[in-house]
Amino acid sequence: MKEVNERVVRLAQSFDAWRAAARELIARGVPPADVAWQSQAGDGDLFSSTPDATDTSAPPLRLPRPLVELLENAACFNVHDRWAFLYQVLWRWQQGQHDVLSPADADGARLHAMAKAVRREEHDMHAYVRFRERSEAEGAPRFVAWFEPVHEVLPQVARHFARRMGSTSWMIATPTASMLWDGQTLHAGPALLRGAAEIDDAGEALWLTYYRSIFNPARVNADLLHSHIPSRFWKNLPEGAIVPAMLSGAANGERRTGQTATVGQRSGAAMIPISAERAQPARDAPTTLDQCRRCELWQHATQAVPGVGPQTARIMLVGEQPGDQEDLAGLPFVGPAGALLEQALREAGVARDSLYLTNAVKHFKWEPRGKRRLHKTPAQREILACHGWLEEEIERVQPQVIVALGSTALKSIMQDGAASMTPLLGTPAQHDGRWVVSVYHPAYVLRALDEASRRQAYRVIVEGLQHALTLLQD
Ligand code: URA
Repeated sequence: MKEVNERVVRLAQSFDAWRAAARELIARGVPPADVAWQSQAGDGDLFSSTPDATDTSAPPLRLPRPLVELLENAACFNVHDRWAFLYQVLWRWQQGQHDVLSPADADGARLHAMAKAVRREEHDMHAYVRFRERSEAEGAPRFVAWFEPVHEVLPQVARHFARRMGSTSWMIATPTASMLWDGQTLHAGPALLRGAAEIDDAGEALWLTYYRSIFNPARVNADLLHSHIPSRFWKNLPEGAIVPAMLSGAANGERRTGQTATVGQRSGAAMIPISAERAQPARDAPTTLDQCRRCELWQHATQAVPGVGPQTARIMLVGEQPGDQEDLAGLPFVGPAGALLEQALREAGVARDSLYLTNAVKHFKWEPRGKRRLHKTPAQREILACHGWLEEEIERVQPQVIVALGSTALKSIMQDGAASMTPLLGTPAQHDGRWVVSVYHPAYVLRALDEASRRQAYRVIVEGLQHALTLLQD
């Protein structure tokens, strides 16, 4: 171990590296004043240019979870003395000075402020990253975004988008690092120039048209607008380019006349006054489910969820639409309703992997409730718009028996918006040369108010599945 002028030098390029070094220094009883921290190899240091190697065999520290979380968050705060400061906090904690975690303590106050600023930066990045879509000819990644975070939050933000954007590839470029999601794995990359994310995106024109049309000069409050979206984000937002002109137009009299065409046309706050057909003329002829814009549900879903199962399956199960977890995973019936279905299949003696499992509607329809996305029943026009995809699956798989899980599925299979499940429970029907068995949707069982109705609904599902088996011809 090299000691230079009583100070040891430690290199911390990441939180994990800092933690390993800090653990070893604490074990050796080295006080904060005797450590010089470097953020990068070769950082100019007064005493030495070569950091000591960290002894990784030091015993682990026992720290309370809230302290670890604070340290971890504060470690992303971009300030030159962060590692030294974190070590000071840790040292004081180990010395029994637990008030170091209190906002009333000077170090505690700084620690909390740093962690809070980092959480805020993460939140802002979630809100203000704007992906631009590249043309297919440009290859992967399909979406790219440019952002200039003040703190080092890119890795956790990238994990957030990886969870939300399913198998769609994207890259977020920043002046200090980049992150690429190839649809399956995150890859850390180098710093990039802003030009890496400057591409023409037809979808952006649509977004700007929408933004202009919802802009209400009579109601605009420029101060509020700027306080909601801090000005440093404006320059990277597509709407940032048109907002100044719209604001000055509003100030110059459009306030009086501005509620004419655009606002007057709106029948609801969330209505887009440009027709979907005009915006996307090819919407009626998508060649893949991913491209489907036959109804509006794609806009708020993470991805379309296709059916899964053997192409030779003799039984096809049709649900309503993907739920929250299915939307994120891109697979049908992986959430709570899927678990109940799995149990019913087991009880009925039907092997899940022998079935083709799909939904009548392929995009998740939901409404926000606090932080949750609550399922919303699809409308008949959405069932109809999606019917082509179900038909294509039936054509391809040619099942002998279709089990409709709930009335949305039944309406789509029968192509009858008035189809009712009740008369068909326990009585299979013939449709287009195959049997259709109707049972309750598994979510109906989960929502049942009392034990007796839950049991009864569950039995209907199990018996329907058993019935489907008996209808198969060898
Ligand atoms: N409910 C459905 O109808 N389908 C799913 O995939 C999940 C829940």
